[in-house]
Amino acid sequence: MNNEIKHWLSKTEEAIQTHLDNGRVSKTIRNASLYSVNAGGKRFRPYLLFSVLKSLNADLSLGVKAAAALEMIHTYSLIHDDLPAMDDDELRRGNPTNHIVFGEAAAILAGDNLLTESFNLLSNDTSLEESTRLKLIRILSECAGQNGMIGGQMLDIEGEVAAVSLEELENIHRFKTGHLISAPVQMACTIVNAEEQTASVLSRFSEKLGIIFQIRDDILDVTGDVEVTGKNTGSDERKEKTTYVSELGLEGARAQLDLMQQEAAELLKSIGNNIDTASLNEVLNRFAIREQ
Ligand code: IPE
Ligand code: IPE
Ligand code: MG
Ligand code: MG
Ligand code: MG
Repeated sequence: MNNEIKHWLSKTEEAIQTHLDNGRVSKTIRNASLYSVNAGGKRFRPYLLFSVLKSLNADLSLGVKAAAALEMIHTYSLIHDDLPAMDDDELRRGNPTNHIVFGEAAAILAGDNLLTESFNLLSNDTSLEESTRLKLIRILSECAGQNGMIGGQMLDIEGEVAAVSLEELENIHRFKTGHLISAPVQMACTIVNAEEQTASVLSRFSEKLGIIFQIRDDILDVTGDVEVTGKNTGSDERKEKTTYVSELGLEGARAQLDLMQQEAAELLKSIGNNIDTASLNEVLNRFAIREQ
């Protein structure tokens, strides 16, 4: 991993820790929130935000609070995704899921806490103009809300009982996962006030990346090694989820993933003259390879 990005990722961890350490009213909420954040995770969304900032030649320090907010929202979405009423999973990031350790009520509240506090942290980001903070809050709330991740999570649950077409499946992936992967790209472009044309190609790249990311997750739900993914395999089949693997078979899902990866790489080639795409190619190679 690039050392500069590594440095700012560790500053991001510190920002989250400091913010949650401020939770004075309930030790349980503080501990349950920190438990899931500190369980690990790839930190893909912060990594992507810093990679885009780097590709745009920006000051990476400006992305710390935005990256922290993104990871907090993502972590909340995982805590709730694992609840018995949703995917009912018992292992996450190599550890027992939040509700297994703290109970359902605390897990729900820890998720609510991470969601709410992410916006508080972002609103207090003094390294950015207030108008920029407002734009970031708008992007993040849109990507996480009813027309983003939450909308997609509901479609995913409804897809357990009704047959969905491949087109609808791509749509579910776009909403439940893609939007929180587009968010870091849009946020980085907003922080540096990137030209509209650059922002638009990067946004197309991120949309593809989001779908790639979830197809890969569907494949790993079947083929993954629990030591690497930190979660049990077979969760989707148990819940009779509609996934790329259930619809296309393993080989079909792999072929679809390869195709989308090629398209994403082509997209990066097409913008190679305007920005430094090395860090974005690294994102594609590092996080989107099918069986890693
Ligand atoms: C898992 O996300 C849920 C999806 C949206 C596919 P990640 O694969 O980024 O999970 P962590 O953060 O590494 O645990
Ligand atoms: C979850 O998708 C997407 C979220 C918004 C959390 P999955 O349900 O496939 O994620 P995992 O496999 O549990 O990480
Ligand atoms: Mg799910
Ligand atoms: Mg799940
Ligand atoms: Mg999954």
